[in-house]
Amino acid sequence: MTVLHEIADVKRSPEEVYDYVSDFTTTVEWDATAVAARKLTPGAVAVGTIFEVECALPIGSITLLYTVKTLQANMLIVLSGSCRFFDIEDTISFIDVPGGTRIDYRAEFFFKPLMSTLAGFAQQGLESMGRDSVAGLARALKDNFPVETPTATDKVADKLVLPALSLFSRLGYKLGRKRFHPMTASVKHKHMVITGASSGLGYATAQELARRGADLTLVVRDRVKAEKAVADLKLETGNSDIRYELADLSLMADVDSLVERMKKNGRPIDVLINNAGALFNPRSETSEGLEQSFALLLLSPYRLTEGLKPLLLMASSPRVINVVSGGMYSQALNVEQLLVPDTPAYSGSEAYARQKRALMVLTQEWAAEWEGEGIVVNAMHPGWADTPGVRSALPQFRKLTRHVLRSSEEGADTIVWLAVATEAGSVSGKLFLDRAEHTVHLLSKTKGSRQETEKLMDFLASNRGSIDAAQRASASVET
Ligand SMILES: NC(=O)c1ccc[n+]([C@@H]2O[C@H](COP(=O)([O-])OP(=O)(O)OC[C@H]3O[C@@H](n4cnc5c(N)ncnc54)[C@H](OP(=O)(O)O)[C@@H]3O)[C@@H](O)[C@H]2O)c1
Repeated sequence: MTVLHEIADVKRSPEEVYDYVSDFTTTVEWDATAVAARKLTPGAVAVGTIFEVECALPIGSITLLYTVKTLQANMLIVLSGSCRFFDIEDTISFIDVPGGTRIDYRAEFFFKPLMSTLAGFAQQGLESMGRDSVAGLARALKDNFPVETPTATDKVADKLVLPALSLFSRLGYKLGRKRFHPMTASVKHKHMVITGASSGLGYATAQELARRGADLTLVVRDRVKAEKAVADLKLETGNSDIRYELADLSLMADVDSLVERMKKNGRPIDVLINNAGALFNPRSETSEGLEQSFALLLLSPYRLTEGLKPLLLMASSPRVINVVSGGMYSQALNVEQLLVPDTPAYSGSEAYARQKRALMVLTQEWAAEWEGEGIVVNAMHPGWADTPGVRSALPQFRKLTRHVLRSSEEGADTIVWLAVATEAGSVSGKLFLDRAEHTVHLLSKTKGSRQETEKLMDFLASNRGSIDAAQRASASVET
């Protein structure tokens, strides 16, 4: 048997450290040998939970299957693992010490018969890997990472259309991931509202946030899909703090009624994720007479966010995340064109891109306006991800690009980062792709004037309608 024993002190509570480490999929963030990890059993982490961890070792690539043997909340986790070369038992204790937690990490290796002769030679390498892993864990838990500025590749891509487009693909995510930092901030019990959470990026975001213990409200328009999403997420993650609200977000009456219900409930909102979206071909109007893309992609997040602002202000460090699209790079802000007239020249992609450009401008305006109130507002674009939305709205595009499309999880990764990472709370009014800030203009012709931005804000304010009426009504009730 070979034994490794390492100790590290971190300035985090035992509960936070235990929550982070006991979900052993986080091993990819701190153990340099771990390249991929997933939880194979559904539900919350418990005795019997199985994790699969792929490691790149000097002796070759191995897949370790770990089973949780013992769990003592905030104190101890014991995992036993097995691969073709050895069995292993990891005993990780979390000791409450003044100002933080002492992590006591003991790993016992039992080499398989033919490998035992190698064990003596491997001792030094194993010791140094053990030291690096626990040092990596301590570094992750320090949680003092910077927001990544664009790399040289990003800077070139942000000036040229074709390289920028290549970053939208799965390759862009692969490159971006190399500079990802661990996300160890706890979001347990933080209330996060996600629109369009029934499929694609919204669902993938909900999965990851649920896994991290956030308290989720999913805004979905279809009751059957909503119930299924909540049930699946609860089963998969063991998180029971997940509920849904029904709203067709292209209808302002639904948006306003959702706002009223949530305000009545009074639960502060830590993170609001404006994700719901669709591309409309041919042009169509809502039953309220608004063109669909304008209603769903711009007016709806505007009204919802303005309406929920009192609940955001009740949270300690609220964040708003607007999901835009790389399509916006083709358009300048043009307020006249937002109301997309019914002409033969209508293009769903153009209408979509214009609303997303306006949402980006709105993100920047809100960030500046709400800075003093402590609300952080950022936008992200997911690149190109293979979601039900892309499959139904852009079948030809999907056919051509299917081999390079990201998964929903890869597309949603930056939404999760903006909601969770400590460093993401330190910037506002920016656009992110793969956890790094990117330019909001690829082409100089899309740069709009201050005058046009003010026109947008006036135009949206003139559409506040019932938000103001409702706020006046609730103010008169309170007085
Ligand atoms: N996938 C990409 O490559 C990509 C690229 C750039 C930007 N985006 C943006 O990412 C966001 C998510 O898109 P996705 O690709 O994940 O598409 P998706 O799979 O179609 O998901 C869109 C979500 O929005 C919901 N939604 C649509 N219309 C709604 C309405 N009127 N009221 C309430 N909810 C509504 C959908 O609900 P139903 O299930 O009921 O339809 C669904 O849950 C969108 O804002 C999209 O513009 C995606």
